[in-house]
Amino acid sequence: MHNEDVSIDTPDYFHYICDPMKKRRDMAKGEGIAKQSWKPGNVLSPVPVVLVSCGGTKGWKPNLITIAWAGSVCSEPPMLSISVRPERFSHEIIHDTGEFVVNVPSLAQAKATDWCGMVSGRTVDKFAGTGLTPAAALKVGCPIILECALNIECRVQQSLNLGSHTMFVAEVIAVQVSSTLLDAKGRLRLEKGGLLAFAHGQYFALGRCLGRFGYSVQKRPRQVRRASPRKKA
Ligand SMILES: Cc1cc2nc3c(=O)[nH]c(=O)nc-3n(C[C@H](O)[C@H](O)[C@H](O)COP(=O)(O)O)c2cc1C
Repeated sequence: MHNEDVSIDTPDYFHYICDPMKKRRDMAKGEGIAKQSWKPGNVLSPVPVVLVSCGGTKGWKPNLITIAWAGSVCSEPPMLSISVRPERFSHEIIHDTGEFVVNVPSLAQAKATDWCGMVSGRTVDKFAGTGLTPAAALKVGCPIILECALNIECRVQQSLNLGSHTMFVAEVIAVQVSSTLLDAKGRLRLEKGGLLAFAHGQYFALGRCLGRFGYSVQKRPRQVRRASPRKKA
């Protein structure tokens, strides 16, 4: 990408991504990046923010919990983890049933996502409160959220008590994808649904796509060589 492609309101760091040499030039000019030392904390950003559904089996009512401490942890078998504080109602449910669904919300579900993180299923019915639709999962007893583009059904393999949170490490045993987010070739186009991210206490709508996996090492299509101007006779 060339500098001309970068809009005026683009933040400084973006210029560095687009033009790594700019960083060198700025540092050479004495405009180095100053750093502060902060006390250790959870500043890893951005992270996904998801709606986890649980319950609906073993006498538990269906419930939703907003989770930001979630991530993929293994490819074969596919596994992910969610970290939940023991005082959450959902902790009791997941601990007892060993099942949950990670539902990936989009911008349309941003407010509902926040709200499900503000109230407890001990006192409210979060499906009724948000208007989100519970639907049958393929392999687990708890419901999926119909409106979410991706529903990842999980079975807990390990529970690790890490301190403030229990990390539920779970195997992904089924995945449901909304067909509205598939392109003509059947590829998932999540960006069509508007992706959400969470960074340091704030929600963000993901911006434009910068490239596909591996684009940094991809060979450029061969440029057609321009014929050298003919020498005049
Ligand atoms: C953006 C956001 C992210 C959150 N992430 C987590 C998390 O990763 N782990 C957790 O235990 N609680 C997290 N919470 C808090 C719970 O969602 C919240 O306490 C919720 O009301 C618990 O519901 P429950 O009692 O029905 O389980 C988060 C809340 C918000 C708003």
